[in-house]
Amino acid sequence: MGTHVTNDAHDIDGIRAALDAVKYNSETIVHHFGGSTQAEMSVDSKPYLLRKTSGGSTLDSIIRLFAIGSSVSVSDAIRALGPMPLERWINSNIVSRAGEQVIANMCIIPQYDMLILHDPPDSQGRSEPRRADHVMGIAASTKQIISLGVPATGRALDFGTGCGIVALLMARSATEVVATDISPRAVEFARFNTLLNQVDNVDVRLGNLFEPIAGERFDHIVSNPPFVISPNDGFMYRRGPFESDELVQYIVEHAAKYLTPNGTLRMMAQWANTPEQTWQDRWAAWLDGQPLDAIVSEHFAHPRHAYPQKWLKSDSRGHTTEDYQAAWNAWYDHLGALNIESVSTGIVALSRRDNTAGRLETFTENIDTDADTSAYFTRLFAQWKLLDTMDDEAILRARLRVPSEVDLESVSVAAEGAWKVSDIALRSQAGLVSFVRIDGPIATLVGWCDGKRSVRELSKRLAREMTANAVSLERALVPSIRRFIERGYLLLEEIDQRPLEELR
Ligand SMILES: C[S@@+](CC[C@H](N)C(=O)[O-])C[C@H]1O[C@@H](n2cnc3c(N)ncnc32)[C@H](O)[C@@H]1O
Repeated sequence: MGTHVTNDAHDIDGIRAALDAVKYNSETIVHHFGGSTQAEMSVDSKPYLLRKTSGGSTLDSIIRLFAIGSSVSVSDAIRALGPMPLERWINSNIVSRAGEQVIANMCIIPQYDMLILHDPPDSQGRSEPRRADHVMGIAASTKQIISLGVPATGRALDFGTGCGIVALLMARSATEVVATDISPRAVEFARFNTLLNQVDNVDVRLGNLFEPIAGERFDHIVSNPPFVISPNDGFMYRRGPFESDELVQYIVEHAAKYLTPNGTLRMMAQWANTPEQTWQDRWAAWLDGQPLDAIVSEHFAHPRHAYPQKWLKSDSRGHTTEDYQAAWNAWYDHLGALNIESVSTGIVALSRRDNTAGRLETFTENIDTDADTSAYFTRLFAQWKLLDTMDDEAILRARLRVPSEVDLESVSVAAEGAWKVSDIALRSQAGLVSFVRIDGPIATLVGWCDGKRSVRELSKRLAREMTANAVSLERALVPSIRRFIERGYLLLEEIDQRPLEELR
């Protein structure tokens, strides 16, 4: 099998024409498999997939070749791949011929209303080992970064583009997208995918780290970087040029100089946890003094012993038990040598500010992937910028609203024959799921925040109801109110009233 994928626009047009001719798209695939989706295209469901594509139609052959990864006869291939001659498909290195059978060298999968070329996933059950420069398909981390929203207006950067999916999505709204990758193979695939999907505002560049964008600035940076902490296991798609989590640190420490004022960065990340430092302190150290507001959310942490197997599981094809044990030992020892007790996985959102140091808020609960997290980040960052200009008097004059995703939860325990409220918390169910314990009287006041009356008016009402001193009460309330604004439990009216586009 050759190693280069074609960059000949004429050939790529021919490939697209063949796939369009059989209406090879997500809708057709879902229809073909009676409602099942690509998620079910795993090795376990191969018998089912083959059965469903046994009709011999040209669409069956295309699905077998590019989605399932199984071979078809030469005559079926000629029928399905035409009008472009089979020889040209072979010269393009998209398919190979073995005797009377044709097999695809890569996958082409309908994704996000596009067709995306990438290397075959292990789930296709192929026998050849994964290449060191394997170009991965749409992984869980890819879906997650996309679900965070790929905000893109103006100039956007996709760092570590792989097959180019994130760049292609950003290209729908950005004026110009730059996509970079250290892997020549990934660059070829991403360029192929821009041509296959007729996207002309993505500039794919080869290079290490931020070298290909030296001296440039972007309105948005999105990255699903190779964040895996491992001994050098040889896979470029998951391990960068560092021993531990220095790539994530590198991105954070260099981001500001590549972002325009108010520019944003969204990224997936893993980071090391050592006994000397909490993860929150690690992030605070990386961000220290940076002109960046930051939201970091940890979704889970794998202890040292569980982390290697999480990744090795998918590499174990064809391994003997001894190989597997040796690889596991090397990985476990690598983490031990770096004093890593566990590895956290999470997401990061940054927003460039003027040259003053930014704010960091950390979250530890799972993200609600159905929520419009991008809007949540945008509002919260805008709110922080405004909050910085507000003294206590401004907080008291502010009108606030409880966003619809925030509710009040109370827990009661049975005591002496009756329910007794033991805990009240504000819980936000959108963006980052989080909660904060709250006192009953403040909870009452938060509930009154309807965007119409100021905090001072509400505080006076509360003082009357509690028969408390109004001045002392409002003074006591300000720090909590400020904190609720910082965490997004309360929205400042100025932010609430403005369309998102203006806040970006
Ligand atoms: C996890 S993959 C992400 C691919 C794609 N963006 C996605 O989300 O599916 C990370 C990508 O970063 C690239 N990469 C690895 N080391 C790099 C480096 N030092 N500089 C730039 N890119 C790098 C890999 O080749 C790979 O394509």
